[in-house]
Amino acid sequence: MGVTGSSGGHLALRLLEALAGSSWEVHLVVTDMGRRVLEHETGRASLDGLASHVHEPDDLFAPIASGSFQTRGMVVVPCSMKTLAGIATGFADNLLLRSADVCLKERRRLVLVTRESPLSLIHIENMRRVTRAGAVVLPPVLTMYAKPSSIDEVVDQITGKVLDALGIDGEVRRRWQ
Ligand SMILES: Cc1cc2nc3c(=O)[nH]c(=O)nc-3n(C[C@H](O)[C@H](O)[C@H](O)COP(=O)(O)O)c2cc1C
Repeated sequence: MGVTGSSGGHLALRLLEALAGSSWEVHLVVTDMGRRVLEHETGRASLDGLASHVHEPDDLFAPIASGSFQTRGMVVVPCSMKTLAGIATGFADNLLLRSADVCLKERRRLVLVTRESPLSLIHIENMRRVTRAGAVVLPPVLTMYAKPSSIDEVVDQITGKVLDALGIDGEVRRRWQ
């Protein structure tokens, strides 16, 4: 799981909480801007302690930098347009970008919770490019038909969609019946 410096730190927190109740081992990479925006939005200085393994973004010797290390896949939540651009071009100069690159080359699941609005053509072209390479672009959009009564419920709805895209069980939302 990667966390970048776009808005939406609450989504990262909720997903880590949901995964903590599962049997999945979570390797976490938070970019420098990811830490700063997370603290600004949530008041939390770090996500350490919520994942099985925490790696520094400049540690390109970490296991998740290699395709020989087996993973289910990766989610980047939230995913900035800068990191999206890095993934779209294969510019793997930090651990988060390299791990995403590995997922694409190994044909593993890669889910990008991209957060920006409005979108430029560059953003859209990069989303098209990563989609063609096998990634799932999953923007955190509102689900008003679920009639959420709080922001927490909105966050749960989006977290449920992310878990589905990763193929991981976890009932954090009400499903449409
Ligand atoms: C408070 C704050 C909110 C931001 N929100 C977004 C955002 O929603 N989407 C985005 O693409 N960039 C956003 N940015 C800009 C990114 O942090 C910036 O492009 C950064 O270089 C991303 O680096 P990273 O992908 O390595 O974390 C935001 C910056 C700040 C300070």
